Amino acid sequence: MSKLKFNRVGIAGAGAMGSGIAQVIATAGAHVFLYDISNASLDKAEKSIAQSLEILLGKNKITEAEKKAIQGRITTGTSLDGFIDCNLIVEAALEEMKVKQDLFRSLEERVSPGCVLASNTSSISIASLSNGLTNPERMIGIHFFNPAVLMPLVEIIPSVLTRNGLAEEVFAEVKAWGKSPVIAKDTPGFIVNRVARPYYGESIRIYEEGIAGFYTIDHAMKTMGGFKMGPFELMDFIGNDVNYKVTESVWTQFFFEPRYKPSLTQKRYFEAGLYGRKSGRGYYNYQNPEPAAPDANPELLGKIFDRVITLLIHEAADTLFWGIAGKEDIDTAMMRGVNYPKGLLKWGDEIGWNVISHRMQGLYERYGEDRYRLSPLVFEMAEQNKTFY
Ligand SMILES: NC(=O)c1ccc[n+]([C@@H]2O[C@H](COP(=O)([O-])OP(=O)(O)OC[C@H]3O[C@@H](n4cnc5c(N)ncnc54)[C@H](O)[C@@H]3O)[C@@H](O)[C@H]2O)c1
Repeated sequence: MSKLKFNRVGIAGAGAMGSGIAQVIATAGAHVFLYDISNASLDKAEKSIAQSLEILLGKNKITEAEKKAIQGRITTGTSLDGFIDCNLIVEAALEEMKVKQDLFRSLEERVSPGCVLASNTSSISIASLSNGLTNPERMIGIHFFNPAVLMPLVEIIPSVLTRNGLAEEVFAEVKAWGKSPVIAKDTPGFIVNRVARPYYGESIRIYEEGIAGFYTIDHAMKTMGGFKMGPFELMDFIGNDVNYKVTESVWTQFFFEPRYKPSLTQKRYFEAGLYGRKSGRGYYNYQNPEPAAPDANPELLGKIFDRVITLLIHEAADTLFWGIAGKEDIDTAMMRGVNYPKGLLKWGDEIGWNVISHRMQGLYERYGEDRYRLSPLVFEMAEQNKTFY
């Protein structure tokens, strides 16, 4: 326990993410105050933490005494006064800028000057959340993945105003919580939600062009690439409402960069309420499952896989080009945050950057669209016949 720097941690927002984050941090040995404006959310959070710990107990991952100790370290409440003696607060409330900004301002009035303020936001810039604080140097992004108890990746995002050294302190703490931290620049989608865009976007595009159906595209990515879930299965799992909103948000925040442009297919599924598993129907029908389409010929599967993996690898390289994160962090993020079978930059080394470059230029010539323009880093890697590892 002594290895923890932040021994009193507040969590603001006790929904799906807040309750999981509270469990992770209490398990590591810190005292946690879990806050929400809704008593119903707090009740639900307590139940879901108890259930999750019960499962771990059943699997002999924790003892009864440890379960009790973890629960004993979590207190809950609807008063902001519970945060007074915290030295770190992770906000996981609604994804609305004003809600978060108001909350941070109220928190700053109550906590000590040394208390670090962090947000678990997926899409709001950390800079905008620190706007209005007396001491914005204490603000940082700590972005967990869902479900927080199971997913190892945590993205740490310092803003332009975050004090020097805070990202490294938080990095060490996240490791002590048993997670895999990476550091990313305060840019839309950070690492994972940016680099993963083509997995969905290019797959939908292949479908829209009539090249193949959902099942065949999923089949291609799983059998040729070793992805655990195909893009359409994964979108249905994430929820087409959530996925559409992330796509739109990354696109608009990048000033309408054509690479991230949402597709009409995705929008129509969202508008029709075809959210995926949670609504019973998305790209697949979960209430009345249809028989799987016959497997396509290997040539078509290869063509689909090559196109999607090329766009993914290219996006990872471009993310490195813009200095959003280091090469190891980009590769770790995709493996530990979304279960990719391999790091994308390593994958690019294996396929060859001349091949990636050639394919991108082929797509650019064919479609004449900016979404296929070549990243300067991929150009350089190919021209100089270099590898990252
Ligand atoms: N769900 C995901 O996959 C995921 C992944 C990573 C990050 N996030 C981010 O985490 C945050 C929470 O997401 P979630 O999925 O847990 O949402 P959720 O809807 O499950 O929970 C949000 C909680 O915030 C509470 N809340 C609302 N206003 C509040 C306030 N002013 N103060 C304190 N609590 C308040 C609500 O009562 C609710 O319990 C969002 O910023 C989201 O973008 C979500």
